[in-house]
Amino acid sequence: MNQKELRVSKIKDGTVIDHIRRGYALDVVKILGITGKEKRVLTIAVNVPSKCFGAKDIVKIEGKLLNPQEVNRIALVAPHASINLIHDYLVVEKREVQLPKTFEGIIKCINPSCVSNSGEPINSKFHIKQEDPLMIKCHYCRIIIEQSDVLDQL
Ligand SMILES: Nc1ncnc2c1ncn2[C@@H]1O[C@H](COP(=O)(O)OP(=O)(O)OP(=O)(O)O)[C@@H](O)[C@H]1O
Ligand SMILES: [Mg+2]
Ligand SMILES: [Zn+2]
Repeated sequence: MNQKELRVSKIKDGTVIDHIRRGYALDVVKILGITGKEKRVLTIAVNVPSKCFGAKDIVKIEGKLLNPQEVNRIALVAPHASINLIHDYLVVEKREVQLPKTFEGIIKCINPSCVSNSGEPINSKFHIKQEDPLMIKCHYCRIIIEQSDVLDQL
């Protein structure tokens, strides 16, 4: 601790999402459905210095465990995030999220005439074209969907 640091309380049990791409902490919070009105400790750090990435965001949530769907949605906005499980103030498990090259479900194709929107039992399926800013391509109709449209659905 020196003149330039401010210590924030540790959380006892919960989740720390670290190495979030700079600027995306609030999107992560939104994905988790957290409004800030809950009675739990929530710490959001934006644009803090990081050895690996230059700058990063961090989200710490007391009393919250992430389910696999939440982790998949986080991967779309923060493809290199680490999910740290905190128990009794200590990191007891660390998982790196992974943005797959191809993913199914999670979001819907924006093309109304896409076969994945036809009512047939076909899951949406996308290929990642670009990570930052995110660009994905529908496997069926080949339409390109941009980051803002993906974020709207998360
Ligand atoms: N009890 C806690 N409350 C709040 N944050 C915590 C707690 N324990 C660890 N953290 C935070 O969780 C993240 C991961 O902790 P860890 O001790 O694994 O750090 P690290 O060695 O820097 O990990 P990495 O190699 O993933 O960067 C760090 O950002 C750390 O500040
Ligand atoms: Mg670290
Ligand atoms: Zn489509």
